[in-house]
This record gives sequence, structure tokens and C-alpha cells, in this order.
Amino acid sequence: MSSVETKEATDSQWWKEAVVYQIYPKSFNDADGDGVGDLRGIERRVDYLDELGVDAVWLCPVYESPQADNGYDISDYRSIHPAYGDMDDWRRLLDALHERDIRLVMDLVVNHTSKEHEWFQRSRRRDGEYEDYYIWRDGSPDEPPNNWESCFGGPAWTYDDEREQWYLHLFDENQPDLNWRNPAVRDSVYEMMEWWLSQGIDGFRMDVINLISKAEDLPDGEPGAGQTGTEHFFNGPNIHEYLREMRDRVLSDDSLLTIGETPGVGVDDAKEYVGSDGSGLSMVFQFEHVTFDHDGHKWNAGNWSLAEFKEVLSKWQTGLEDDGWNSVYLNNHDQPRMVSRFGDDGDYRRESAKLLGTLTHTLQGTPFIYQGEEIGMTNASFASPDDLRDVESLNFIEESLERSDVQSYEDVRDAIEYVGRDNARTPMQWSDDPNAGFTEGEPWIQCNSNYETVNVERARADEDSVLHYYRDLIELRDERDVLVYGEFELLLPDHPAVFAYTRTLGDERGLVVLNFESEPVEFVVPADVALDGLELAIANADAPTVPSDSFELGPYEARVYLTPTQHT
Ligand code: NOJ
Repeated sequence: MSSVETKEATDSQWWKEAVVYQIYPKSFNDADGDGVGDLRGIERRVDYLDELGVDAVWLCPVYESPQADNGYDISDYRSIHPAYGDMDDWRRLLDALHERDIRLVMDLVVNHTSKEHEWFQRSRRRDGEYEDYYIWRDGSPDEPPNNWESCFGGPAWTYDDEREQWYLHLFDENQPDLNWRNPAVRDSVYEMMEWWLSQGIDGFRMDVINLISKAEDLPDGEPGAGQTGTEHFFNGPNIHEYLREMRDRVLSDDSLLTIGETPGVGVDDAKEYVGSDGSGLSMVFQFEHVTFDHDGHKWNAGNWSLAEFKEVLSKWQTGLEDDGWNSVYLNNHDQPRMVSRFGDDGDYRRESAKLLGTLTHTLQGTPFIYQGEEIGMTNASFASPDDLRDVESLNFIEESLERSDVQSYEDVRDAIEYVGRDNARTPMQWSDDPNAGFTEGEPWIQCNSNYETVNVERARADEDSVLHYYRDLIELRDERDVLVYGEFELLLPDHPAVFAYTRTLGDERGLVVLNFESEPVEFVVPADVALDGLELAIANADAPTVPSDSFELGPYEARVYLTPTQHT
């Protein structure tokens, strides 16, 4: 067996060769004109996804929900939120995707439910078996049981007047945390997962799954710059026991794709989730490369260097190379638009969007494309807090004003426009029709004002668009094992402008060179990189078909050189 063959995925590991497209249903496409995206709207766009060439869709929550956190607050796991449609619409979407060989991964949100969930309603009434479904503690109404903070700011506890006890919520007060120590809770979750699997889905993206196990007795956390208490609930004491149980009980079909969203995991922690002796997840979403510039708090982000960025990503590339698998993403519904954060959303929007796409499709791991990334969508402008919808941003503004940290919205506007989650949630830009062709009604959140120039219709008609480039990238990755399985080696780690690396798989070699600056830069290929046989495979500018020892890269220029295919 050649080294290529030994590295290739078994059928059950189809996801190693896949590209996944993430859909945020509220903002993707509205078929019924109520201003909110819906399942029929997505169904109308499955041919678009097919043309793009993606292999799987991750659908953010579409379940019944009061929408305090846009569906990450679920009140009924087995029904569809009416604004999105119903189970028949969902089945039609599943069929439409499967007919095109696109798999469907559903969001699994089981660290918490909505307050409106029947389980919580019964729990607050101490109704029989539901009494211990959540994490309740005694205490006087003005003194929370410990000093843990919510991820969205403020205490992680709310006093419930009905039950006369505090309940824990690591997110919004409308999202009470389930008590995973209670076996009945775990049984209920597994039954629900089995039910979704029986509907024919292909896997789960597991929301903050490494937060489900809390330290016994819930001790106080060490106050610091970030959220207090995380050392007691990130990768908590029973996390792997629960995940192994989940695997044994419901995830025994090893062709299912399971992606754990795991804030705060390092490479060694990740191996415990995705390594051969781990608890069985296919991959995790780690956060280090999107938080390395947080300076204690996400709202302080922005001061980063390319050298640090390369260091973090390379650590993950090499760290999971022999045991485990990476996910590769630069943005999603919780992150700002990547081109505004890591590229240049002004003069070099097109070039830098292509450059970042080149990065995500040529690193080792499964690339995730967030809706709109493939046309180079950018962060938006939010002139007033009235334009914002996200509970996290609104809480931050309210608290900052209350604490008198700031005097007005203008004082936090830059931070909101840089990292606020609503940047990713403005409607998908389909055309230059009113509301970007997203809805015939009033959109639930404003469109980005650049939709007349940045939209799918225009990108389709322009051979040089980000969209066409993404199709080529996906096709290239599909054809070339070296991009999927090749060993990664970072070149010039300290170079302040160029991100360059090689990929090697047996005789197949690749060289990727990316200029992260808006100025031209001279790139000298390190002497130990073999250039013989390399040919240009994709680039975002005119480039020579074979590399020389040194060459000049234009602003945000990206080039991928590969040896010709060795396969027969
Ligand atoms: C992570 C999700 O991606 C985010 O959107 C949500 O607010 C939190 N988990 C809470 O469910």
C-alpha cells in the first residue's frame, strides 16, 4: 500500500474530504415574505449549493424557540419554529439535499434549553421526574450561589420566584443549563438524538458541548480578565464519560459527522475528543485562532500580528496531524466576517476574500464555509443600537452604560462593528433587488449597504469573482489528496507579511504562498523547499506557471503550486 492509500479516508470518514457549508436560517433566504429566512427559502437555493460543490450543510437551529438567542434557546427539540416552516418543509429540504449528494448536519443544543421548554416549566414547579432536570440552588434572592459569569455578561444565575431557588445559565437567563448529572436528562437527550437520526440526518454540530459537565459543588471561580468560572465548566470532570455514553448509546454509526463546538480547548484537550483514544467526535471547533487577539475580552479584539496567527494555526495543524482531525474555519454566525477581520474589506475585498479562502481550503482539516463568505461578504455598519439584534451585543452595551464604562453607544460602536455577531447575521446577499433579494418583506435585521455590488447574481456573472474562485478551490481540494491528507510544514514563521507552507503526501507536494498585506512583498523561497515539478494550481492574480527561487507577490496575492497528480 502506498502512503497515499494508507492516509485516505475510509468511507465512514467521508467528512475528511468534504467541504461543509453553514446556513444560518434566519438570514439565508425568505420564501414567504415575512422578513425571516425559512426552510422553503433554503430549498430554493439547493442548486446554488450544488453548483458551489459543497458536500454537506450544517444547519443552525430551526427548532421551536422563543428566539431569545436566535434558536439556540430551544423550547421543543422535535418541532420546527413556525417562522421557518414545519417538519414537512424540513423533510423536503433533506430530500432535496440528499438528491444532490449533499449531507445534512443538524445543530444539537443540549447544554441548555429555553426557559419555555416544557422540561423547565415542569422543573420550576418541582414536577416529579423533572425536578432535577436543571441546576437549581438555594440561596437568598440577592446573593447568587457562586460568582460564575454568563458568557453574555452578568451573573450566570437567575432567581426563580416560582421555585424560590436560583438556576444556572451559562448563557442568557432565558437559556437554563440542563443538569447532565441526572441520568434521566441524558436519557431524554439521547432519545431526542435518536429521533433525529431516524429522520435520516448525517450528523450533529454540538453546541458548546464541552460545557455540559460542571464541577461538583459548583465552587467559585478565579476572577480574572475573562468570564469567571470557566475552569469549573470548560472540559468539566465528567465530560468524556458523557460523550462516551452518548457515542455508545446513539452515535454507533461511525459514518455520522460529529463536530463539537469547544471553546477554551487546547490541542491536548482536543485529542481527548477527537484522537483515537478520545471520546469519539469527528472534529472540534477550537477557538484559539479567533480569540488570540482578545486581550482578556472579546470586545478588546483587534491587535494581532500575522506571526501570532500563523503560530496558532500551525500548532493545530501539526498537533492533530498524527491523531485526530482539524476543522478549518475563519468565520461563522458568532464571528465577524473574515474579510473584515483578517483581510481588507475596502480596496482589496476581492483579493483578500480569495486569499482567506485559499488558506481555509489548503490547510489540513475540513473547511467550513459560512454563508456569504463565498461572495466576500463584509462586516456591516450599525449606526444605532436599534439596528442591532444580538442579545450578546445588546447586553454588552447595556452593562457598559450601567457601569458607566462608556457614556454613549458611540463609545462602543467600533467594538460592536468589529466583533459583534450581527455582522455575520445580516441577510445573505442574493442580488441587487431591494433587501438584497433575501425577502420581499421587511428583513428582521438590516441588509449590509454594499449589497448592490456584493451579491450572488453579480458574482455569478463575473468570471473573476470570489464565488467562481471558491468553486475552483472546492474542486481543487476534491481532486488533490495532498491538500486533504498532506503533511503541513510552516515556512518563515516570523515573516510579518507572508503566510507560506508546504503540504507533502508521498511524492505529491504543494507550496502555498499568501501575502497578507496591501503592499507588494518579495518572497524568497527557503532553500530546503524543492521547487522542481511544481506547477501553478490556483492563484488570485496572474502568476507564472512555475515558481522561481524568489518572486514578488502583489497585495493579498495568493498562489498554490502543486506537483501534477500522481494518481492513475
Ligand atoms: C454557541 C452558538 O454558536 C451561539 O450562537 C450561541 O449563542 C451559544 N452557543 C449558546 O447556545
